[in-house]
Amino acid sequence: MGDHLLARSVSISVFTGHAELRVPDRVRTLSARAPGVGRAAGGVAVRIGVFGRGHVGAALGHALAGAGHEVRYGVRDPAEDRDPPDDGSAGLLSLPEVGRWGEVLVLGVPYGAVQEVLKAAGDLDGKIIIDPTNAPKPPTDERSSSQIIAGFVPTARLVRAFNTVPAEVMINPLFENGRASTFVCADDRLARVTVQSLARDIGFDAVDAGPLSSACAIDRLLAVWRVLAFDAGLGRNLAFELLRR
Ligand SMILES: NC(=O)c1ccc[n+]([C@@H]2O[C@H](COP(=O)([O-])OP(=O)(O)OC[C@H]3O[C@@H](n4cnc5c(N)ncnc54)[C@H](OP(=O)(O)O)[C@@H]3O)[C@@H](O)[C@H]2O)c1
Repeated sequence: MGDHLLARSVSISVFTGHAELRVPDRVRTLSARAPGVGRAAGGVAVRIGVFGRGHVGAALGHALAGAGHEVRYGVRDPAEDRDPPDDGSAGLLSLPEVGRWGEVLVLGVPYGAVQEVLKAAGDLDGKIIIDPTNAPKPPTDERSSSQIIAGFVPTARLVRAFNTVPAEVMINPLFENGRASTFVCADDRLARVTVQSLARDIGFDAVDAGPLSSACAIDRLLAVWRVLAFDAGLGRNLAFELLRR
């Protein structure tokens, strides 16, 4: 994975009436950005704690650190980790340490481990938590898997994002012919705007997709992605781009 990666994009055209939302001061980044990936340097760097350092955790952590944010990873046993990050993020913390430290937290762990990780992380009152996880099977009730996760941390602000793109695209959403869209859902409007801003910092087209309940519909894109990536043989370096006018 690296900045040289180019990928094919699949464009979908959907009308959206969402107006551009104001970015909160704490998260605003440089207004004079390069047209490609944004940079937080000179703007406000957000403290981002990433639970897990697998494909998703490492990809989002690396991209966000590269965009000028402060990134630390929370792992089960920091002392045991013999492969410290080389992306400018300042080392590894325990799960409760990263839970306390991060202003924004990322769930870079399997869906089945989320409840345990959130419990180990301690008091997450008011924290913005990004959920890019995918449940192996969709929930059997009407709720999205993110709504179920939100129920584990009712005083935190859960945001669904990045789950419809592979780690290869998280680390580089820029394609020869466009940029990948990520669909951002949250019940808390400020949290939704904050995560849209972070997604733009790392090069995504961040789409306001409404409340967490919208994630049920958005998740159907995953089935389309899998058919195209695997059955149709287009490969994993594939993403959706939303066209608007
Ligand atoms: N891979 C993708 O392209 C992609 C794209 C979109 C969404 N997703 C979703 O994102 C989630 C993570 O996927 P991934 O590919 O990043 O998985 P992964 O590469 O297997 O990494 C999982 C990470 O979670 C940690 N972990 C596992 N169980 C834990 C526990 N009980 N407590 C603390 N840490 C734990 C692992 O630590 P150890 O190494 O110590 O076990 C590892 O760092 C999944 O829900 C997946 O469906 C993946």
